Amino acid sequence: MIVLQLADFHVRGDDRLSFRVVNTRHCLNETVAHLKTLEQEPDALVLTGDLADSGDEKAYRILHASLSALGWPTYAIPGNHDRRDRMRDLLPGWCPADSDVAPYICYTVENGPVRLVMIDTMNPGSHDGRCHAAVMTWLDETLAQRPHMPTLLFMHHPPFATGFPVMDVPVENVDALAAVIRKNPLTRLCCGHIHRPILGQWMGVPAVTAPAVSMQMEFDLGEKGGDEFRLETPGYLLHHWKHGVLNTHVCQIATRASFAGPYPFTDSVNPG
Ligand SMILES: [Fe+2]
Ligand SMILES: [Fe+2]
Repeated sequence: MIVLQLADFHVRGDDRLSFRVVNTRHCLNETVAHLKTLEQEPDALVLTGDLADSGDEKAYRILHASLSALGWPTYAIPGNHDRRDRMRDLLPGWCPADSDVAPYICYTVENGPVRLVMIDTMNPGSHDGRCHAAVMTWLDETLAQRPHMPTLLFMHHPPFATGFPVMDVPVENVDALAAVIRKNPLTRLCCGHIHRPILGQWMGVPAVTAPAVSMQMEFDLGEKGGDEFRLETPGYLLHHWKHGVLNTHVCQIATRASFAGPYPFTDSVNPG
């Protein structure tokens, strides 16, 4: 079983550059061209948030048209630059949200040996994440249904400290998530938002962040770390299950990356 995790497209529906620097539609096209060259077809694509740069409708239409052309099952959760209502309306089939936990976009995909569980940590109008009480109740009950099944848990905001101080605003109500994860040791946390791969451990389980398919976070662990980006090689995660082993590969997208930067996240929008 192969699951590709793609994060942080930041697609714009207008012709402007994301953060005044990056042509994210070009990044999307390069990503799709790369995916078409893969030897093994994935069983699913999971998009872990910041699909749009400012939640505009046309961005979702562009993204849906581009990735649908691949013909692979695709699933999405929102990030801080997204709008739930537009994702539901404009990404048909990609957000099969459980109505029990509306308006949050949470659901499971259980047609393979690894269970995929998607949760919504978006807090409209805010850059930072929140473990909504209703989502945590839903997650607790959902994971309890199959406690012995290996599980990839996808969420936009990482619940763990990344070491990039500007990004390390604690996720609200994160203790509720910690309590659920402690009961489910076969879970792997798969996040976006950081625009750089990190392999960590949180509450006893593996925890990873995906590189972005667009701009990468500047590598700076100093005081200002997490506030700038650089045009490094984009990438994604490939989760591979075979013979009872679950590996997460960090993959690169072949581009002529300039490594220009660092640049600030100018004009950042978190839709309300
Ligand atoms: Fe992002
Ligand atoms: Fe984000």
